[in-house]
Amino acid sequence: MAQDIGYAAEQDDTVREWQTRAIARLRAEQASAPETPLIELPLTDAPGIRLFLKDESAHASGSLKHRLARSLFLHALCNGRISPDTLIVEASSGSTAVSAAWFARLLGLPFLAVVPACTAREKILQIEALGGTCREVADPRTIQSEAARIARECTGYHLDQFTLAERATDYRASGNIAQAIFAQMADVPGGLPRWIVCGAGTGGTATTLGRHARYMGHAARLAVADPEASVFHRHYADRSVSRVEGALSCVEGIGRAAVELSFTPEVIDRMVVVHDGAGMAAAHHLSALMGRSCGPSTGVNLHACMEIVAEMVARGETGNLVTILCDSGERYRSTCHDPQWCEAKGFTPDDAHPALARFLPLMPDLARRAAA
Ligand SMILES: Cc1ncc(COP(=O)(O)O)c(C=O)c1O
Repeated sequence: MAQDIGYAAEQDDTVREWQTRAIARLRAEQASAPETPLIELPLTDAPGIRLFLKDESAHASGSLKHRLARSLFLHALCNGRISPDTLIVEASSGSTAVSAAWFARLLGLPFLAVVPACTAREKILQIEALGGTCREVADPRTIQSEAARIARECTGYHLDQFTLAERATDYRASGNIAQAIFAQMADVPGGLPRWIVCGAGTGGTATTLGRHARYMGHAARLAVADPEASVFHRHYADRSVSRVEGALSCVEGIGRAAVELSFTPEVIDRMVVVHDGAGMAAAHHLSALMGRSCGPSTGVNLHACMEIVAEMVARGETGNLVTILCDSGERYRSTCHDPQWCEAKGFTPDDAHPALARFLPLMPDLARRAAA
């Protein structure tokens, strides 16, 4: 989206020097940040198949959006579009806003997040704790237009993740999530992944993964786990569908009502449609299994992995799978991890994929099997 940047042509040396320092600061942050870990979830009953989680919750701002926020700020700075007092505005269901608030604070910039009113309170508190301000809007479909309007009217800068994610992230460069996954998997028995599974909000993560695999000539296939209510899987099946009406998914961050510009269906090998309740149940199962709380989009990813593992077992295939642990469940204590909230939404443990109990049994099941 074109931005109205009045000051771009009349920058003075002070602004340019500040931009140079800001870019150096972001590059130093990237260089000093430890790579996020790859965690194996040992599978039972699935010989020759291994499942790994790329733990993006380990980023300093707590989610996979840390990489995107850094890229969006660098994109803006390298285009000369942010000066020392520019108000940064972003539309987000929370995770990008938390990460953007983190980077705005690093650079000393004011930050405003436009978030859907249904956003988990925990995320709003985190944005505010990082010095950001939140503007809640009732209709989640309007957050982007509202962010663009505010940025225009305040001569601020709209980070615009939905448009810019795919171009702000360099799929060839080191430091992107795809390059990190392939580098880490090269050292794992069984080697590079047969499948990589992720969700899509902007579509930027999927686009980076798909492009990088193709660029490097890797055989890995990309599956996108998409909530039932989302338009992405409908668009994947029929490119003439670009919008869906009705209630949106309860899984924050993924599944959209309109196809976003950063979503690139051509690099995706398959979509796995996931019911919200199944995603929540998988998030609960994984949290119990790991002894730490995981967010609902991670549950959606895990559900899709279970579907693929079950198919591979049925066909006698072997190979490694990687999916993303997107963020911590601590951000969703009042939603996904609140039993009353789940009950009110009609989600029950019965929504869980049966393959979860088979391939990733919890302790009592393990004990029962061992006793049998
Ligand atoms: C919380 C959250 N937000 C957003 C996304 C979507 O990422 P992207 O915007 O790169 O498509 C995910 C992906 O799983 C997620 O977990």
